[in-house]
Amino acid sequence: MKHIFRNTSLLLLSFSSFLSVYSTQAATNDHSLEIALGKLIFEDKTLSNPEGQACASCHIASQGHAQEGFIVSPGANSTLFGNRNAPSISYASLTSDWHFNHEDETWIGGFFLDGRATTLQEQAKGPFLNPLEMGNRSKEMVINKIKKSPYINIFKTVYGDEVLQNTDQAFDAMASALAIYQASDSFAQRFTSKYDAYLQGKTRLSKQEQRGLTLFEAEDKGNCAACHPSQIGENGELPLFTDFSYDNLGVPRQINSPFYGMNKRFNPAGSSYVDTGLATNPNIKKPEAQLGKFKVPTLRNIAQTAPYMHNGVFATLTESVDFYNSRDVDKKWAAPEVATNVNKDELGNLQLSQQEVEDIVAFLHTLDDGYIIE
Ligand code: HEC
Ligand code: HEC
Repeated sequence: MKHIFRNTSLLLLSFSSFLSVYSTQAATNDHSLEIALGKLIFEDKTLSNPEGQACASCHIASQGHAQEGFIVSPGANSTLFGNRNAPSISYASLTSDWHFNHEDETWIGGFFLDGRATTLQEQAKGPFLNPLEMGNRSKEMVINKIKKSPYINIFKTVYGDEVLQNTDQAFDAMASALAIYQASDSFAQRFTSKYDAYLQGKTRLSKQEQRGLTLFEAEDKGNCAACHPSQIGENGELPLFTDFSYDNLGVPRQINSPFYGMNKRFNPAGSSYVDTGLATNPNIKKPEAQLGKFKVPTLRNIAQTAPYMHNGVFATLTESVDFYNSRDVDKKWAAPEVATNVNKDELGNLQLSQQEVEDIVAFLHTLDDGYIIE
């Protein structure tokens, strides 16, 4: 239950940051140099091959740390594209540990949409060496660039000189700085949405937003909160809008996206590509049972991160909610990308009116961080 404690302390920090930036900085002071270093690395575009792409290129602060407008992101080599839609990572540091929940018979947590990295530090090593992303050929190639960077002295101050003599250790240290930065308050204005202010009794929702919230939570209506929890937790922690479980919603293939024609070279496998999600995680022993499942994403800042789902197939929030509503009854929806394990119990025929769909969308807009209480 470690993440709940972290969560609570973050919550306190982010509310004090409403009042004063300085109190936040004092509270995180022990790691302030490492955090500053992590930020420099996160934004450093020289760390890709060819140069020009940073973590921040695909995880843009003003877009929920996702990349709006791209089904999948171009790599440092801009003729290559990754396989998945860049997720919002503003809240990724609060992700639950990777484990199996026997009661619900589901995997929980972990990083990436298939949970294949067990820590944020491990995750941070992936993009540098991914040929479809930052494209470096080796760890050494990355560390040599760090050695020539303007922040090399900060790196040495934080981790010591010796660490740079061992490429593996230096690479681990770099990933640690990235993880610590992402967990810090300077990374994201977490828990500052209109909905958070509402939960704290500091503001009201509009009538439409309130109707949307009710539909979002009602088991016989949207039932969204079954997987995207929306209430304050037992220890007073604000909701993350994900239970970190895995599910196959039966979303159509990327080729069905309205943006598809704009760029056909989405990934090396081309238009026939099928993403089996959790089944691609090398730690999974029986992949058949996990085919097509993806980690439930947070819905915080969701209005800023279109298009939607692991493959970016839906262009808008309205289309996404409409899909939950009518997947099984409206012929306009193309076949699922992966037909096994599709969840038929909780979605597909919600019988919401168009007005109710729009009400849920209005509620989702209250989850944007940076709300200013009037
Ligand atoms: C080319 C675009 C791109 C770049 C560059 C990039 N990412 Fe990502 N990021 C993605 C995509 C796409 C995913 C989902 C991949 C998957 O699930 O296989 C992802 C996933 C993540 C996740 C996991 C989120 C979760 O909820 O599990 C984190 C954290 C993250 N990236 C941080 C970083 C860091 C740190 C860097 C720099 C070292 C970086 N990213 C560079 C596109 C990118
Ligand atoms: C059974 C669990 C479950 C329920 C119920 C559920 N979701 Fe989801 N939701 C998921 C999963 C899993 C994904 C990711 C699926 C994928 O990428 O293929 C997701 C993705 C989303 C996304 C896209 C997120 C992104 O970053 O691209 C939105 C928006 C969303 N859900 C909203 C809702 C709303 C609104 C409801 C209620 C009408 C709802 N969800 C009900 C599990 C669920």
